[in-house]
Amino acid sequence: MSRDIRNICCIGAGYVGGPTMAVIADRCPEIEVRVVDLNAARIAAWNAADLSGLPVYEPGLDAIVGRCRGRNLSFSTAVDEAIAAADMVFLSVNTPTKQRGVGAGQASDLRWVEACARQVATMARGHTIVVEKSTLPVRTAATIQAILSAAQQEAGNTTFSVLSNPEFLAEGTAIRDLEEPDRVLVGGEDPDSIEALTAIYARWVPRERILTTNLWSSELSKLSANAVLAQRVSSINSIAAFCEATGADVQEVALAIGSDSRIGPGFLQAGPGFGGSCFQKDILNLAYLCESFGLPEVAAYWRAVVELNTWQQHRIARLVVGKLFNTVTAKRIGILGFAFKADTNDTRQSAAIRICRDLLEEGAHLQIFDPKVSPEQMAVDLGLAASPDLAVPDGQGSWQAVHSLEAAAEQVDALLLLTEWRQFRAIDWQAVAQRMRRPAWVFDARAVTDGAAVAAAGLHLWRVGKG
Ligand code: NAD
Ligand code: UGA
Repeated sequence: MSRDIRNICCIGAGYVGGPTMAVIADRCPEIEVRVVDLNAARIAAWNAADLSGLPVYEPGLDAIVGRCRGRNLSFSTAVDEAIAAADMVFLSVNTPTKQRGVGAGQASDLRWVEACARQVATMARGHTIVVEKSTLPVRTAATIQAILSAAQQEAGNTTFSVLSNPEFLAEGTAIRDLEEPDRVLVGGEDPDSIEALTAIYARWVPRERILTTNLWSSELSKLSANAVLAQRVSSINSIAAFCEATGADVQEVALAIGSDSRIGPGFLQAGPGFGGSCFQKDILNLAYLCESFGLPEVAAYWRAVVELNTWQQHRIARLVVGKLFNTVTAKRIGILGFAFKADTNDTRQSAAIRICRDLLEEGAHLQIFDPKVSPEQMAVDLGLAASPDLAVPDGQGSWQAVHSLEAAAEQVDALLLLTEWRQFRAIDWQAVAQRMRRPAWVFDARAVTDGAAVAAAGLHLWRVGKG
């Protein structure tokens, strides 16, 4: 018998919890969806009257929140109450790489997941389905089950079942990915619970796209999917460097290899290296797990994907310095884009961070423009306060955030395009060139600029993967 779900609680109002629950609330108006978080400022932002103030920028999200919030979607810090009222609790909290102790720099830090499991164990009433939405090391469900069954034995009248339902959305396209997913994955042991969750998604996702597996396959599929996607990015970036050395063009190579139906065209865009909160942490976690399970060769294989990515980012910074006569000290460089990809305000692990830090280390003065990233976030990421007038002791790097492409180009020796925001694809290079100091360079780490237009404006051009 399928369990009827009337009340959902989602712990974690972040990039996954917020958009995912908004779409569930939108598609299931009779289900009450409560999104809860410890972070009061974040919750206040989710409740902002002005929908442009939502804490997560995602195209289409504001409209959905606008129509569901106050109907069957709420955001609050009342975690205990929301758990107590729920038939189904999603754990959608952060699982970053551990910073200290055993596995530091590799393993996932599970303290937030465990804290949630304990809170659910204490506050849940009746039968509660606990859904792992966070990306977790394979076999984490066993830990959650152990915590919940201890509570079950103590209280007697509460019961639990645990499902794994990893999220595959990509930032910038989250709403489309949630509304039309390639697949939904549900891992579990209890058929009734699996059916209860499947029935929710089946309101808008064709049944044949809802895959059910055992718990461990589901947990491991998520880590593996990210590892394979990241591997494609590192693969094409390695080929891009080789293209530059040989006169080949990586976009032509990507088209040629991606036309093979066995390979496919997706995820073959050369760039400044993958960023985002998950690829690196999930691969490092996968490698750590492989090592723990006695598979060091497998671990080394996956770690190479991250090493190539780090190399690509340092390579681009070195290349900029090289082209600018081997010194950028006291030179102005305009940075176009700071988010880890277009259409998001997220900067976690953005390639821009490492590249900008390298240039600051060389003493450059950076004028950074991103349409969605706040100067405060840039300061946190760069580990350095902004210097609005760029007046700093001789030889030291400095940066300031600017509000337009034109301001980023003011008196610079180079523009470095790092995020493929749509507006950077159609730049008036004649006008921009007027603002730059000659000889001037354009470094396009996304290969989105019109090479002929840049050349016609009298600017030198480097594009990733173009020999
Ligand atoms: P996030 O940091 O944006 O959000 C997590 C939220 O959980 C934070 O707001 C935090 O305050 C809250 N939280 C932590 N512990 C809590 C507790 N005990 N009680 C209440 N709230 C608590 O993270 P995210 O990007 O949404 O990612 C969440 C998970 O989803 C991670 O495991 C991640 O790997 C995975 N994931 C992320 C993406 C993505 O695109 N960001 C995509 C797929 C999967
Ligand atoms: C990625 C996955 O695509 C999602 O399926 C997954 O759910 C998510 O991670 C997660 O687990 O967090 P996301 O990181 O949001 O999503 O964005 P992607 O589109 O995958 O891009 C990741 C990085 O790779 C970006 O920096 C992007 O610019 C870069 N990239 C991507 C390339 O350089 N080239 C490509 O061809 C594709």
